[in-house]
Amino acid sequence: MTTRIHPPAIPSGHGKVPQNLLRVSDLDPARLTQLLELAAQMKHEPLGWQHSLNGAVLGCVFEKPSTRTRVSLATAAHRLGMAAITLNKDEMQLGHGETWADTGRVLSSYLDAITLRTFEHTVVEELAAAASVPVINALSNTHHPCQSLADLLTLSQHFGSLAGLTVAFIGEGRSNTCLSFLEACALVGMHLIVASPRGHTVDEDALAVARKTMERTGGSVTVSADPVDAVRTAQVVYAEVWVPMDRPHERAERAEHFARYRVDRGLLAHAQPDTMVLHCLPAVRGEEITSEVLDGPNSLVWTQAENRLPTAQAVLYTLITGNQI
Ligand code: CP
Repeated sequence: MTTRIHPPAIPSGHGKVPQNLLRVSDLDPARLTQLLELAAQMKHEPLGWQHSLNGAVLGCVFEKPSTRTRVSLATAAHRLGMAAITLNKDEMQLGHGETWADTGRVLSSYLDAITLRTFEHTVVEELAAAASVPVINALSNTHHPCQSLADLLTLSQHFGSLAGLTVAFIGEGRSNTCLSFLEACALVGMHLIVASPRGHTVDEDALAVARKTMERTGGSVTVSADPVDAVRTAQVVYAEVWVPMDRPHERAERAEHFARYRVDRGLLAHAQPDTMVLHCLPAVRGEEITSEVLDGPNSLVWTQAENRLPTAQAVLYTLITGNQI
């Protein structure tokens, strides 16, 4: 049996543990930092917590396809001693009109945490409001917090620290990945440049909220239509899919709109030689990113995908145990 390693205690009065993780801004800077530190420890010692949540159960509801989020959360649960069970909406009474609120209330008496991937963010909110166990957003149309945590762990491990890093996000400024990454940049004091075509720029309200947080953390966010200009000063270029998974009918129109926003060797020629590349995956090779870049020496993408597991483990552990990191 592997014994649990001893992570640092939480300084009292800092980093209140949220009940749920529905969006990145459910965390505050102190709690986010602690969560990333715990994830780094869990990456180093994956089985160091293997009996810490013995007997607990995670319920997993996925209304959209998922490879990374589904498997990393289930594996993270197993590594903590939990069972992970898949709940198919069509086989539950949700398919017959039972509300998410009633479902969350009842499931809370059987489960220790619930993770949900769905469409409208209000559905995750409705479930969380009624549930008395932690709810983890495994992706909604507007937020993808689990992805951002892996992004931050990847950057902090590569660069040594996060505050002051400059990232150029290239493509859809209204995606869940972009919005969650914006919230993450705000909390850790990073500089974000989002380059998007007209009609796909970051929501003004989200920008205003992030800028308010950045007044305290020292970060910044700017929007641009010019991907070349965006990558010039960036230490990291974040490529984003052109077509969201629930909008395949927009492929032709988007391919035309986003043609200038491909992360390829030509675009990266305008960046510094040591600029690194992120992509949340799945990638459409040759569309938003070329294979040459995705598999190239400056790609952090595979580490980023790998980091979904320790960050999922840290999220489950932190939310379920409350204050006991
Ligand atoms: N990046 C991400 O969320 O991947 P999946 O859709 O495979 O979960």
